[in-house]
Amino acid sequence: MTNELLSEWLQSSNSTVILTGAGMSTESGVPDFRSTSGWWKNIDPRTVATTEALAQNYSLFHEFYKMRIENLEKVAPHEGHQILADWEKRGIVSLVATQNVDGFHQLAGSQRVEELHGSIRSIRCHRCEKAAPIESFLHKESCVHCGGKLRPNVVLFGENLPQVSWNNAMEAIRAAELVLVIGTSLEVYPVNQLPMMTKGKTAYINLDIAHHAVQFDLTIEGKVKEVLQQLPL
Ligand code: OAD
Repeated sequence: MTNELLSEWLQSSNSTVILTGAGMSTESGVPDFRSTSGWWKNIDPRTVATTEALAQNYSLFHEFYKMRIENLEKVAPHEGHQILADWEKRGIVSLVATQNVDGFHQLAGSQRVEELHGSIRSIRCHRCEKAAPIESFLHKESCVHCGGKLRPNVVLFGENLPQVSWNNAMEAIRAAELVLVIGTSLEVYPVNQLPMMTKGKTAYINLDIAHHAVQFDLTIEGKVKEVLQQLPL
């Protein structure tokens, strides 16, 4: 029933924005952050994904991001990512805004993607901002231009979101007729504010919807891949 309703909304909406989080990629073998098997169950984010860790505990910072980059070599987008890319081609989706840094939406073929928390697939110098090869980071080398510390182009705790991506996502969501939120705990500010900025309809697909059910017009509890595969579209 809810599946049919969401399909109808997707078909009748003239502008749909998808907002994804780590739950979008768990079925590809990328752990999320806050589930029992998520990254943050073993590691406190304040000790590692911060500018303080980068400055004062670079070994730990480097080890954490090296592990996440190397893990990406073994995994790939799943059919759910491909379904979203197909929806874009068919004019069902206007934009994917994601908190994920894995680049899976683009790899699956989505072209209009805003990476609100950056990308782990590119590296820059924390001091002079110049780009560096990913291998230099993996080998724990310093910046060849200024000797600064290399880091992935992700948003660390305490840093601002990429302004252009944020503005594009916000404008699209404000104007959207439908916002479909997929696989995020909605615990992290400011992205968790985005779904409520629309005047359009809102829907939420997640393994666990209990905390946010009242916020949305429609909720579907389940695994992203299965739910997307089963939508009659
Ligand atoms: P979380 O780990 O906080 O939430 C992931 C959500 O996806 C949870 O509610 C899970 O129940 C759900 N989930 C997991 N697997 C699923 C599946 N197969 N199908 C459906 N739902 C599933 O991840 P995010 O909300 O993305 O930021 O976290 C937001 C930000 O917190 C991340 O971007 C990261 C982190 O700190 C930075 O690193 C800046």
